[in-house]
This record gives sequence, structure tokens and C-alpha cells, in this order.
Amino acid sequence: MPKKQPTANKKARAAARQGGKFTRALASRENGKSRRIAVFGAGYIGLVAGACLAELGHIVVLRDVSSDRIEALSRGEVPFYEPGLAELLQGAKDRLKFTLDAGEALAGAELAYVCVDTPPGPAGDADLSRVWAVIDDVLRAPHLRAVVVKSTVPVGTGARIRQMLDAHGMAAVGYASNPEFTAEGRAVNDFMHPDRVVVGADDEDTFRLIAGLHERVDGPVVRMDVRSAELAKLTANALLMAKISFANEIATLCELTGADVQQVMRAVGMDHRLGVHYLGAGLGWGGSCFPKDSSALKQLAADTGHHLQLLSAVIEVNNLQPRRAIQRLAEEIGGFHGKRIALLGMAFKPGTDDMREAPSIVIASRLLAEGAEVHCWDPLARAAALDPWTSTTRHYTPLEALAGADAAIIVTEWPELRDMDWAQAAASMRAPVLFDGRNLLSPARMRELGFSYLAVGRP
Ligand code: UGA
Repeated sequence: MPKKQPTANKKARAAARQGGKFTRALASRENGKSRRIAVFGAGYIGLVAGACLAELGHIVVLRDVSSDRIEALSRGEVPFYEPGLAELLQGAKDRLKFTLDAGEALAGAELAYVCVDTPPGPAGDADLSRVWAVIDDVLRAPHLRAVVVKSTVPVGTGARIRQMLDAHGMAAVGYASNPEFTAEGRAVNDFMHPDRVVVGADDEDTFRLIAGLHERVDGPVVRMDVRSAELAKLTANALLMAKISFANEIATLCELTGADVQQVMRAVGMDHRLGVHYLGAGLGWGGSCFPKDSSALKQLAADTGHHLQLLSAVIEVNNLQPRRAIQRLAEEIGGFHGKRIALLGMAFKPGTDDMREAPSIVIASRLLAEGAEVHCWDPLARAAALDPWTSTTRHYTPLEALAGADAAIIVTEWPELRDMDWAQAAASMRAPVLFDGRNLLSPARMRELGFSYLAVGRP
């Protein structure tokens, strides 16, 4: 198909690159306008982004391929737990629509936001099949002003999409990478008050369009090229994981030397160059993002012939953490065979019902494999009807799970566990042995209550 003649958009982009008067006029027109946006994917990323964009005044049509999900959303039900999301969906319902039909989502839309998941494929790389399926739909919408990818994708994905748009006579349609930095459990707050909004766009027109969407968002919008934006997302996650794994390695050293990792990291974190965040030693990271993004980044580098040595070590340390905990607890109680173990917390972190890649899966599986009877508690997590959970017993309260237990292990630092009556728990357990996998409780207090108390990196 022959390429289109330069359009107003392209002229604007060319003028913008020269930084002339036209740029300023364009910028003032882009800001604060209500846009029509088609959001593809109503999962953790798309639903939060769609609801927040609607809250900011834009008209959003969310498209998903799951009829159950679209029907539930249309009835006003929220498919997963995320604080503030239900209220946002309700408050912005006049500007939000849900559909299974890509054509309906794209009709009249100025922007198409790609928010589908990119799970790890069998080789560890990100599986982009859902992204390409959305791009196939988008290629039938030449009226769009821009295609924006929020899904976490390998570096170079934007360049491929740009080529596809150009090859389909859509050279005037802008492309941007606008990666997501929100964390589950605080995603709405992170979207509205971000540390930064990253917009990777090769032209000024598209950058200003995306920046304008975020005008009422409380955080700086940073422009860069598309490849850098794609890598910034993966790098930020990798550095967060590196901080956690480093804290976990130092925790092991603390166990061997008698130092206390909490005190060490408190001193370290007070250095403003290092920062206090993500230095929490424990059972390691899980969730839908860190495990898949670490693997995707590793494979991305491997595909260029480069081995990311530090990242490989970060992953290895993380894989060891739950196994080390099991080994230490086994030594403490003389093995697990025939023992009743309370597993407190199943979600990969508090504040979410998400069980994906949760350390609790490895812990429960190892306990069962060693012959233990596993009694679980979690206030939110929805354990799938799958192994290992089908072989465990679920309880409504932590005290129920603890009754008659030979030992307990805190896997998720739910605030309920900090505040519960541990004296009563000690009295109801067969033996008061506690492995605090998240360093949630005070060692001195737990020992006062008669517990044999083990923690991560604490004497
Ligand atoms: C993470 C990032 O924090 C977000 O910025 C990013 O946008 C998101 O991934 C993503 O790529 O979509 P999330 O997976 O929701 O967000 O969870 P986090 O709150 O970052 O926690 C991840 C894991 O690290 C949890 O298992 C948590 O228990 C563990 N963690 C966290 C520690 O073990 N120690 C710490 O000090 C902090």
C-alpha cells in the first residue's frame, strides 16, 4: 500500500521537532482536553489505567477478550481486589464502557492503549501474542492519533509496531511507550501520584498528546525515546529486585555473624543515596511482575549475546530464600514428617489477593513434600483449586490455623498478624515455634511469650 501524503499531524510533528511557535500552540491545545481512549486489557494494568484515565475526565472504552470479565464489569463488579478501584469505577461510570468488541472500542477513539499481559513463555522470554493480537485490531483503525503500549515489553517492540503502522499506511499515527510503574495494592494511588510518568515517543506531537492526558496527575512527565522507555521499566524492576536480594544475602551473613539485618538496613537506608525502600529481608519477592520481568530481561540480554551476571545472581538469591527458611525450620523442629504446620499468609504480599508466583507456593509444596500437614490462613488470597493448595486445609482466622500446630511460618506480613493475640496462639499450639519469614514481630516480645522464634537475618 502506498504511503499517505504528509498530514497535519506529520507537519505538526516536523514543526515540533524544530521547536517553533506551532509547538507551543499545539501544546496548549493538547493540555486538559478530554480524549476518547480505547484500552485493551481489563486486567490489573488496564482496568486501573482505564479507571484512572476516566477519573481524569477522559472517555474510556475498555475491551477484554474474557466475556466473564466484561459481563462482571458491566454489572459493576470488580474482578480482583485493589484498594480504591471499585470507588473509582463507580464514580467515573458515565465515562467508562466495557466491551468484547475491538471495533466498538476503537470507533471514534483517538488513542489505543495496549494493556494486555505479557506472561513468560516456555523459554522465559515475554510472550507477546496478546500484544500482537491487539495490534492486528489497531491496524484497522487509521483514524487513531496514537497507539500507546503500557504492557511490559522487550526493547525493540515499539520499533516493530512503528514499522507495522507505517506498512499499513498509518505513518501519521503516533506511537508511544508509556510503561506502568504502579504496584498492586496501591496502584490507584501510584497512578494518580506517580514518582514519574515515562513517555517514550519519537515525535513531539505524540509526546504532548500523552503528556496532556496526564495533566491532572500529580507527578512529572518525562520524555525519552521509545527504546529507553521500554528498558527503563525493566531496569527499575530489576534494581528493586537487586535491593531485595542484596538485603537477603546480607541477612544470611547476619545469621552467620550475629548481626541484625533490620538494624544494618536501617543504617544503610538512612543514606539518601541508597534509600530505605526495598531493603526488607524476608522470603523474597514474588508476584506477577518481578519473576516474569527478571526472566524477560535476562533472556532479552541473552538474545543479544550478553549475560547479565548481576541479574542472574539476584534471581538465584531469591530462589534460595524460601528453601533456606524451610531448611532452618526443619532443623529447629527435627523434620516435618507427621507435623502440623500453620502457614500464615498466602498472597505474594499484603494488600492484594494475588497469588501469582507467591513464595507461599514453594513453602507449601516443600512442607507437603516433607510429609507435613499444612494449615493455611490468608484474609484475601484466592487459592486456585490446584496443587499445592488442594492438599492443604484453609482456615478463617490465624488462631484457627495455629491451634494444635507444631510450628508456624509467617509468609505474608498481613497487619492482622502483627496485632493478633500471640499469647493465646502460644497456648493453643502443640509447640510454640514460629518462623517469622517477614521480620514482622519483635523477637524479644515473642521470646517473652515463650516462642522459639526464628526470623530472617536476626539473632
Ligand atoms: C512491582 C513494582 O514495585 C512496580 O513498580 C511495578 O510497576 C510492578 O512490579 C510491575 O512491574 O507491574 P508489585 O509486583 O505489585 O510491583 O509488588 P511490590 O510491592 O513491588 O512487591 C514485590 C515483591 O517484593 C513482593 O513479593 C514483596 O513481598 C517483595 N518485597 C518488597 C520484599 O521482599 N522486600 C521489600 O523490601 C519489598
